[in-house]
Amino acid sequence: MINSKRILVTSALPYANGPLHIGHLAGAYLSADIYVRFQRMMDKDIAFICGSDENGAAITIKAIKEKTTPKEIVDRYHEEFKEAFKGIGISFDFYHRTSDPLHHETSQEFFRNLHAQGKFQEKTSEQYYDSEAKQFLADRYIKGTCPKCNHDSAYGDQCENCGSALSPTDLINPLSTLTGATPELKETTHWFLPLNEDEEWLKDWIIKGKLDGADHHDPNQWKNHVVGQCKSWLDGGLHPRAMTRDLDWGVDVPQEIEGSEGKKLYVWMDAPIGYISATKAWAAENGKDWKDYWQNEDTALLHFIGKDNIVFHCIIFPSILKAHGDYILPTNVPANQFMNLEGDKISTSRNWAIWVNDYLKELPGKEDELRYFMIKAMPEQKDSEFTWSGYQEAINNELVNNLANYVNRVVVLTNKYYEGVIPDFDENQEIFGPVGEDEFAFHDSEMLRLYDDLAEVADAIRAYEFRAAMNKLMEISTKGNQILQFNEPWKTIKEDEEKVKTVMNLSLQYVAGLACAIRPFMPTASDNMCKLLNIPTVTEKGEFVAMMDKLAMGESLFESGHKISTAAHLFSRIEDELVSEQKAKLQKSAPVAAVETSNPIKENIIFDDFVKIDFRTAKIVEAEKVPKADKLLKLKLDLGFEQRTVVSGIAEHYKPEEVIGREVTLVANLAPRKIRGVESQGMVLMAENAEGKLSFVAPDKGWENGMVVR
Ligand code: 2FM
Ligand code: ZN
Repeated sequence: MINSKRILVTSALPYANGPLHIGHLAGAYLSADIYVRFQRMMDKDIAFICGSDENGAAITIKAIKEKTTPKEIVDRYHEEFKEAFKGIGISFDFYHRTSDPLHHETSQEFFRNLHAQGKFQEKTSEQYYDSEAKQFLADRYIKGTCPKCNHDSAYGDQCENCGSALSPTDLINPLSTLTGATPELKETTHWFLPLNEDEEWLKDWIIKGKLDGADHHDPNQWKNHVVGQCKSWLDGGLHPRAMTRDLDWGVDVPQEIEGSEGKKLYVWMDAPIGYISATKAWAAENGKDWKDYWQNEDTALLHFIGKDNIVFHCIIFPSILKAHGDYILPTNVPANQFMNLEGDKISTSRNWAIWVNDYLKELPGKEDELRYFMIKAMPEQKDSEFTWSGYQEAINNELVNNLANYVNRVVVLTNKYYEGVIPDFDENQEIFGPVGEDEFAFHDSEMLRLYDDLAEVADAIRAYEFRAAMNKLMEISTKGNQILQFNEPWKTIKEDEEKVKTVMNLSLQYVAGLACAIRPFMPTASDNMCKLLNIPTVTEKGEFVAMMDKLAMGESLFESGHKISTAAHLFSRIEDELVSEQKAKLQKSAPVAAVETSNPIKENIIFDDFVKIDFRTAKIVEAEKVPKADKLLKLKLDLGFEQRTVVSGIAEHYKPEEVIGREVTLVANLAPRKIRGVESQGMVLMAENAEGKLSFVAPDKGWENGMVVR
């Protein structure tokens, strides 16, 4: 639990090189928004900061692809982001951009400061250079195979598949993304931050929660996967990391520094400083002092990010902040994992995504529905999945059948029995309500029960467990429904008017409690519920505290004699048609041909060439590892009329015992060659996917051996 006087919340600055999709929302924005809205309702001094990440190679590459300027690209996406965030209700206090002069000044000040303190090592090293493009290839200008997970499209700075931060020289088979050429190594000079010198304090800080010997944060509050990723980084040993690049777009290395010509700040140095620039801009407009939020120990700094950004926020940025000396370090970095879509990874290049602005246009007025399902499926601890049928089921069963139905019943009955005026609560009335799972009894402490349940919602939010918090809210709605169901006011209204008054009063307290507590998750639904109850909508200025104070004292959440409005439906059903349309749209907009491949189709060959290859069906009858060769298996193949020995590079994918008995296709007339001393008499066909996984290309099971394949 955070007890500091202030909280500063940041969400990762999205790269302004492509539209916002639900994967972005699930990573860094929705969780932060819930947290911030809740803390505002707890009357906390809190600021919520974000902005567009407009520097670095990600932007220039997009500009090159679209034959336009980086400025045109960032201007376009900056506006699109603002629209998408506003539409889906991400309530930033300030949304800035890193092309702003204030940001350039702020990040240059950091560079100057670290340079003057002698924190950098100036090093000349060999870096990849594309001689066709006459340009050094930093970060995203270079792609290759990830040395950690074998993903074949890792960038020079990071593998988006496994989240590892990389250097271009780590890549296997590097290629220039500008020309496709294999780059050559050439000397260039840069300023490096010796991260290796930070290993000890980083370990203490991240793993033990200690900073300079003093307690900093409760390490148990950091998510396991965040600590785990950092730990594997630290265990692997940190290396000096270049903080500058040879680029022509971005923040200049300050001119007065010798050798600065043509050098820009590394985007991962300037982007997180963007949080500081944004705070400055926000503070200037709101009569605040930005230093209170960055340089005061009584502030908790929280970075909400996706898992691919962990190393930058937990290791590199903290090292930069600590090197500067005046700054606080994050109290927590509650990163989320990834959200997949309909069984596949979300991918901008393959158009396999739900774009936020498209959703807003195609499903107007259904912002809360998207928020609801995204929270329900939030990848808090592990990767999760968005499916349109899951979305439909959650909306129809939970929002429509449970929450909307409950609220509607309470409002309708109150109007019917009391013309909308809230009846009195009589504590001497015994109400039949749920006391445990599937257990019901008479008891009289329902108000306190509501308090306890809402306190659990609050605790879950504070622990960054947003799925659990929202489930708890839906449980409250279920309990409310059960109270109505078991006390059956529609039956007892004639014989026991006093009891019905108490049941209805309590039900209205439940609805009012929900209207308030649901605000961080579904702000529009909260507004609509307040309107139904004819109470002021939540403005996120301490309402949660005020509500809890009243409930704790057993006070009503309404003024005496308050009159509510008439009923209206909060949510409507999602029809099958919409689900089919959206699924079809996804399939259509991501045609198979658009699958990103690093293996474009080769040049045409003539038929006569094709028939020269003799493909045969065969069966593996023996398999063993080739000594001292991690990748190779020695296979004995049965062709029916003869047996062959083939050496195959599949040992990292299959164990010998797994392949014995497999049917395969063999290139039977490939000239024999010696591999590790073994003569290989042909080649077994294998298919390879984007992750480098292999699959046999085989005839149907039980097919005869030695048959011709054509
Ligand atoms: O991964 C990304 O989209 C980066 N643009 C996030 C930057 S976060 C921060 F450091 F600015
Ligand atoms: Zn990888």
